[in-house]
Amino acid sequence: MTVTVSVEAPLAIVQVDNPPVNALSHAVREGLMNAVREIESNDAVKAAVLLCKGRTFIAGADIREFGQPPKEPHLPDVINAIEACSKPWTAAIHGTALGGGCEVALGCHHRVAVPDARLGLPEVNLGLIPGAGGTVRLPRVIGVDAALDMITSGKPVGAQKALEMGLVDALSGNDDLEAFARNHARQTIDSSVASDRPAFPPAEWNDEKWEEAIGAIRKKARGQQSPVEAALAVRDACTLSLEDAQRAERERFVKLRDGDQSKALRHVFFAERQTAKIDELKDIAPLEIKAAGIIGGGTMGAGIAASMLLAGIPVTMVERDDEAADAGKGRVFKTLEASHKRGLISDEKLENLKEAFTASSDYASLADADLVVEAVFEDMAVKKQVFDALEKHCRADAILATNTSYLDVNEIAATAEKPERVIGLHFFSPAHIMKLLEIIRTDTVSAETLATGFALAKRMRKIPVLAGVCDGFIGNRILASYRKQCDYMLEDGASPAEIDSAMRNFGMAMGPFEMQDMAGLDIGWANRKRLAPNRDPNERYVKIADRLCELGRFGQKTGKGWYLYEEGSRKGKPDPDVAAIIDEERAKAGISPRSFTEEEIQNRILQAMTTEGKNILAEGIARTAADIDMVMILGYGFPRWRGGPMFAGGVKDQ
Ligand code: 3HC
Ligand code: NAI
Repeated sequence: MTVTVSVEAPLAIVQVDNPPVNALSHAVREGLMNAVREIESNDAVKAAVLLCKGRTFIAGADIREFGQPPKEPHLPDVINAIEACSKPWTAAIHGTALGGGCEVALGCHHRVAVPDARLGLPEVNLGLIPGAGGTVRLPRVIGVDAALDMITSGKPVGAQKALEMGLVDALSGNDDLEAFARNHARQTIDSSVASDRPAFPPAEWNDEKWEEAIGAIRKKARGQQSPVEAALAVRDACTLSLEDAQRAERERFVKLRDGDQSKALRHVFFAERQTAKIDELKDIAPLEIKAAGIIGGGTMGAGIAASMLLAGIPVTMVERDDEAADAGKGRVFKTLEASHKRGLISDEKLENLKEAFTASSDYASLADADLVVEAVFEDMAVKKQVFDALEKHCRADAILATNTSYLDVNEIAATAEKPERVIGLHFFSPAHIMKLLEIIRTDTVSAETLATGFALAKRMRKIPVLAGVCDGFIGNRILASYRKQCDYMLEDGASPAEIDSAMRNFGMAMGPFEMQDMAGLDIGWANRKRLAPNRDPNERYVKIADRLCELGRFGQKTGKGWYLYEEGSRKGKPDPDVAAIIDEERAKAGISPRSFTEEEIQNRILQAMTTEGKNILAEGIARTAADIDMVMILGYGFPRWRGGPMFAGGVKDQ
């Protein structure tokens, strides 16, 4: 039974048991509806406690049911029935009360929670709005400002904050929730344990204030509909009657649920959870990582080191000499201190993490490392030298990883005495923030080494995606085809600003040219020079980027790139010198420029990405289309609400 009612007069204990997260499946909705009837009709029952078995309170509607025809009883009716019950219900919350789960709790007359519980309405992340009264009830309980923030951001709040907001009435201890809730429910029988409620609707939320708030939310949403719809629903809650607001909320919910954006975001929800599920690694025990080494303390080495320290792994960093080691240490400490400043780690933790870090110029200091990640210059000869030194100084069973962006990891592994220990771990910059980790499988890597890579990702709270060896793996290879398409359109008549604007309007965090200016044009230039000897002479090659690099225009760091940057500004302006170079190259190629619509730019880029993704799938470089979507969303700013380039291009896994 997914929902049971046990009567211990004067209380009825309603328990939901629907593993893994007590989602509101049809059986749970039906069970709750029956529970209301049973409680209403039993005179011995004076109050009810709603609690959940397992690791969490109800974590929301059952997302898997959204694609199917809805079955009665619908959730809003269940919650209305709980709210209308003549006996008070107390929700006893542990784990997470999310989405429909939070709405069920809001339908209950009282709420208590354990201190580490979290409550939230994350529907916007699924392209939805709360669809069972959340937008109507939450502003009445915690006020419009707080509710608008919670509902449009989708961010949950911790129990302590929920208590301060009035979202829960009281906190129990972490271990005595049930007893505490029973006690609370008993008190609700005679006395009305009514909590203070903010005045509703609040006078200050006039038309002007709504216009302003909704405008700001629309801007931030960059094309995603759900946050805007969520705000409109909260406005309805303030301006319409309770019943009309609930009806309007449901209409918005159903429209979004059946729309493309929610389908895409639901795809992403499940895609994110399947990247680490590799059948062949299911029964393979990973090696324990008690200590790690990092070679190179530049942008990536320092970021990876900080990220590992924050995950509780002691790190030894090796640089070329003592001065470089000191500089690397400085970068690591700066990142840790920034986390401390933002309140993410305590004073004591900061000191402990600093103590768990050593910087050195001596490879002998890596004797205890269980895993070493190399993040030195992107140069095969340098990487091979580093791997030689690692062979000499590391334990025979230590895992040796490279963070290379493009180089052939098979070639690196071939030089190792034990190639089964060599793997690619491709982190993204800034490594302590970016969630993506491409795990590069060489031809010779052992299952144990791979399993350790996945376990490390989990510990570092990264989302791992398995990729085979090829130039640029999954992400950088697709990026290269995307950029190539941009270069073609540039030479054919579009301007950098037109392409950037089209892609921002597509939902990308940044346009391709402004992105290059931020990251530095020199990286791509070095890579193009490396690939030049093997380039097909018949393939179209656009020289504009090379011409900029030859002039030392490397982007923001040199004040000039695709755009011109005034002293201290990160916002570029179109540069007539760049336009002149583009014109020259067009003339040399015999091209008379034509105009491009925004839609054509967007379609051509999407198609280029999808096509390269299909090649990557066909070659077995990626496991699934969903994995490719995750790489592009998490690592390259592809809009989540479009589901990734494969989903958006109509390529789905079977
Ligand atoms: N429906 C169906 N399946 C769900 C689910 C849901 N709401 N939430 C989680 N699951 C599944 C996951 O897919 C996963 O399945 P798998 O084991 O087959 O991969 C399993 O439950 C465990 O989930 P996680 O791996 O995510 O477990 P965690 O412990 O890391 O996280 C969680 C738990 C915080 C509850 C997280 O799963 C989560 O955020 N879930 C989604 C919550 C949500 O968005 N709720 C709103 C739903 S929409 C809604 O309620 C509409 C309403 O307003 C009408
Ligand atoms: P970087 O130039 O910032 O840092 C490289 C560091 O390696 C320097 O501090 C240098 O002193 C050190 N180094 C060079 N040779 C060494 C040696 N023999 N022994 C010890 N240390 C040595 O470079 P960055 O950007 O950190 O890149 C490092 C690697 O990570 C490259 O392979 C790059 O392709 C890859 N990468 C870079 C990303 C980025 O966005 N910058 C993203 C993902 C991967």
